[in-house]
Amino acid sequence: MRLRVAGAVLLSAAAYYVYLPLPSGVSEPWKLMLLDALFRSFMQASDVAHALGLCHRVHLLNRVVNWMEAIEAQPCAAVHVADSTLGGVATRVFQPQGGRRLRRGVIYFHGGGWALASGRMRSYDLLCRKMSEDLDAVIMSVDYRLAPEAVFPDQYHDALAASRAFLSPQVLQRFNIDPERVCVSGDSAGGNLAAAVAQELGSDDSVTVKFKLQALIYPVLQALDFHTASYQQNQAVPILYRPVMVRFWLQYLGADGSLEPLLLANNHSALDEPAISAETRSKLDWTTLLPRGHRKHFQPVLKEIGSPGVVGRVPALMDVRAAPLLAEQGILGRTPKAYVMTCEFDVLRDDGLMYARRLQDAGVTVTTDHYDDGFHGCMVFAFLPMMSSVGQRSMNGYIRWLDQNL
Ligand SMILES: *[C@@H]1O[C@H](CO)[C@@H](O)[C@H](O)[C@H]1NC(C)=O
Repeated sequence: MRLRVAGAVLLSAAAYYVYLPLPSGVSEPWKLMLLDALFRSFMQASDVAHALGLCHRVHLLNRVVNWMEAIEAQPCAAVHVADSTLGGVATRVFQPQGGRRLRRGVIYFHGGGWALASGRMRSYDLLCRKMSEDLDAVIMSVDYRLAPEAVFPDQYHDALAASRAFLSPQVLQRFNIDPERVCVSGDSAGGNLAAAVAQELGSDDSVTVKFKLQALIYPVLQALDFHTASYQQNQAVPILYRPVMVRFWLQYLGADGSLEPLLLANNHSALDEPAISAETRSKLDWTTLLPRGHRKHFQPVLKEIGSPGVVGRVPALMDVRAAPLLAEQGILGRTPKAYVMTCEFDVLRDDGLMYARRLQDAGVTVTTDHYDDGFHGCMVFAFLPMMSSVGQRSMNGYIRWLDQNL
């Protein structure tokens, strides 16, 4: 009897911990709740360890994730897999077995807020393996350096160095990659790096081999407005809560974490900040750049008076290499044909939608793939045990687009 009571108490405590009211329409809410509970418990454990001075919260999180998720480079019948380096940056290479024919190539940057995860994680390993097999293509999954040890522009420089090496005649020849059929891609923070690399290499006339495609999966693209319609709509939707994204940004830019409340209030981009011109503001004006259906009833949070000077102290907030949405139209116009995936239940939805619109305005052909029941990160949860339906659909949609366009 005592055991049964204890069991019931434990079960209800667990249900209370896991339960979270989610917006209707999100794919498989119970799976998302479980995923969120898992994330939250890791976050809380890392916060405790951090507060006790045991280790940095990011280190503990990464250690747990790697312990649970990292897998060896295991070749299979269809794909040869090996850990290597590309332009001096650690990279896992997936190469279809057999034959010496020219193949398509994709360089991939994983997500994780520029601080977490790795191409060696099971989920990314499985994604790249499947891409390699389904597309009969060479996939290079880059392990750029991570925060807090590395901060902007380290991650960007690693992504760029790996991409330059990927496009070099030596690497293309060694892996039998067709120079006419290469793509740069990534999800979340990796989508940010992919977009930044596509801009830099698109405008660099000394680079002879050009990316044919850029494929951006729910990318993060700007840090001046944390009240876009999607930031407002999804601020409490797991797993990427609004303050979590702000923290990732501050950490990436090497800025003081105490700026968090200020950024959350959009005080850094109030109208009294002279460093932000009207032209810059127009590049992320979601009242004009978003389709009406996505604006809904939300109103911009644009203050007259804020905390001027933050942009001077954290200049990377305005750096296009960190915030690709701020690029000039001429730069955007020289980037390759694009695929932009967005999810309705994602604070970053509007970063992606605005970028797609700005690319189109610059004359780039863009496919937007919007998942009405998608949540941030869903594509990485396309495999067991977290297999989600929208995760599988989005992954298949992404691979199909690559197959038809690369
Ligand atoms: C934002 O700016 C206003 C006006 O300067 C100020 O009163 C408020 O304290 C600031 N908020 C934060 C979180 O810094």
